[in-house]
Amino acid sequence: MAVTRTFVVIMAIGLVVADGNSQGYQSGSCAPTPVLPTSLRVIAIPDPFFVAANATTGTKNSGFLVELLDKLQAISGLPYTLTARPDLNYGTQNPNGTWDGSIIGVLVNNEADLIGADDFNWADREGVVDFLIPLLSYKLQILVNTQFGLNNATQYLTSAPDFLRFVCTSKDSVAQAICANILNSGDKGLVFDDNAGLATVLTGNFAYLGGSPFLDSAVAQNQGKVKVALNVGSLFAGLAVQQGSPLREKLNIALLQLFESGEVQSLFTKYGINN
Ligand SMILES: *[C@@H]1O[C@H](CO)[C@@H](O)[C@H](O)[C@H]1NC(C)=O
Ligand SMILES: *[C@@H]1O[C@H](CO)[C@@H](O)[C@H](O)[C@H]1NC(C)=O
Ligand SMILES: *[C@@H]1O[C@H](CO)[C@@H](O)[C@H](O)[C@H]1NC(C)=O
Repeated sequence: MAVTRTFVVIMAIGLVVADGNSQGYQSGSCAPTPVLPTSLRVIAIPDPFFVAANATTGTKNSGFLVELLDKLQAISGLPYTLTARPDLNYGTQNPNGTWDGSIIGVLVNNEADLIGADDFNWADREGVVDFLIPLLSYKLQILVNTQFGLNNATQYLTSAPDFLRFVCTSKDSVAQAICANILNSGDKGLVFDDNAGLATVLTGNFAYLGGSPFLDSAVAQNQGKVKVALNVGSLFAGLAVQQGSPLREKLNIALLQLFESGEVQSLFTKYGINN
């Protein structure tokens, strides 16, 4: 947690500088002056950690993100509607240059004011949306069956396109080998979600590429059966707004307040997110 708090302070300093720039941007000749929305259209990709299972049905009643949005609403005074979109990917630009079909695209196409996802801070996306203060950072790791460990017959698995993209764009030779293993194994290398990855690892010589919040709880709940064998890299979880949106400053200040008061940490604890 100490690492995250340090990071938040650094981001807050960056925010002051960026705000100075955004004034200039707003007075520019071609870009429309961004207006603060009176109600927030929030779109999120449902997943076990960031958005509760109930968000899958679009109901607004539980989950880490729902509780965080309620707290942000209490501070900012901005009501919101949350739509869960399991059909969206985490942010892959199409060959024709659009972001259609991704959660980044709903901001670019003005279908949403705010998006939430648990692993999407990639450099190329930074150019088309504005990320808010990261909520948490986590490690990308390899979970293995303790009886097999990692060996040259291990089948690697993952459930998230972003995790695959991370290893496939890495210059690290171990990451590249994991990428090749998954890509060369056809459907065998892809599982539906974290729980399916864990279930498969429990059956034999498999290695699941996943995020540390899930893997930590998987190890704790399957003592002696599975273990983390390798760290592959780090990812960030957070929220993003449209590029140049005045929501960025307003919501970042609200998020800082929630970090300072310990409310974000309480939510992590409540939802079993190890931070
Ligand atoms: C999901 O929604 C239903 C219906 O509103 C509710 O009964 C249930 O408790 C919710 N589940 C969670 C995990 O909050
Ligand atoms: C761009 O490509 C995506 C995905 O292939 C497609 O859905 C979309 O309609 C295309 N948009 C344009 C403007 O060509
Ligand atoms: C796997 O590793 C073992 C020991 O390092 C080696 O003897 C064997 O040839 C390897 N098998 C393959 C298929 O690479």
